[in-house]
Amino acid sequence: MQPVSLRNVSKVYHLDAVEVAALNAVSLDIEAGRFTVISGPSGSGKTTLLNLIGCIDRPDRGEVVVAGQAVQAMTDDALSDFRARHIGFVFQNFNLLPVLSAYENIEYPLLLGKVAPAERRRRVRDLLDAVGLAERGDSRPGQLSGGQRQRVAIARALVHAPALVLADEPTANLDRQTGASIIALMHTLQQERGVSIVVSSHDPHVQAAADASVFIRDGLIVASKEEAAA
Ligand SMILES: Nc1ncnc2c1ncn2[C@@H]1O[C@H](COP(=O)(O)OP(=O)(O)O)[C@@H](O)[C@H]1O
Ligand SMILES: [Mg+2]
Repeated sequence: MQPVSLRNVSKVYHLDAVEVAALNAVSLDIEAGRFTVISGPSGSGKTTLLNLIGCIDRPDRGEVVVAGQAVQAMTDDALSDFRARHIGFVFQNFNLLPVLSAYENIEYPLLLGKVAPAERRRRVRDLLDAVGLAERGDSRPGQLSGGQRQRVAIARALVHAPALVLADEPTANLDRQTGASIIALMHTLQQERGVSIVVSSHDPHVQAAADASVFIRDGLIVASKEEAAA
């Protein structure tokens, strides 16, 4: 099933009396099992686009369909339940809970989802291993490097086996080499687990890792392409 389809989607922010058109009639299809990178300068609308794809926000106009579900047809409660079950998020500043260990941060979405304890342990250990942190499950975020924190966040985003993982500038707070290792890890996990991943970035190095690319400027998609290797 196609993970994401947008048709003529517009979003306007109201800042006092000023209207900011963040997205202008954007149409976009994201194919399943791809590592898609949305590139564009700061202020071009990347975060707005990811928030609409991630059902964190709703469009002013147009149609957003995620995993076959039309977002506008859902109530706010149904939408947050849908989001929790089908979408994983990775953020620029990691957004880990500082008082929880790496293990507990990864486990957290499963507690909300009422997954049985033995199954929780199995999944958390599998993902700690998959992100190269099998020995660091007891560490709190403050005891981990930036790259390690982002690995924990990636494991947390994948722990409920979502169809779609969205990452908004996941390497922006990391040095280039660490950022490259995070992108390589996400690409590997995308292929191993068959999940669709959409990453936003203004870094050309991230764009170079894409199976499919979308370029956005001033709230408009100016180009998109599928890599032949995908
Ligand atoms: N909450 C908001 N209120 C007002 N304007 C906003 C808000 N969020 C974003 N914008 C504006 O919308 C445009 C797109 O922003 P954004 O999606 O954050 O771009 P990017 O992530 O590419 O930097 C920018 O002009 C930004 O200033
Ligand atoms: Mg942004």
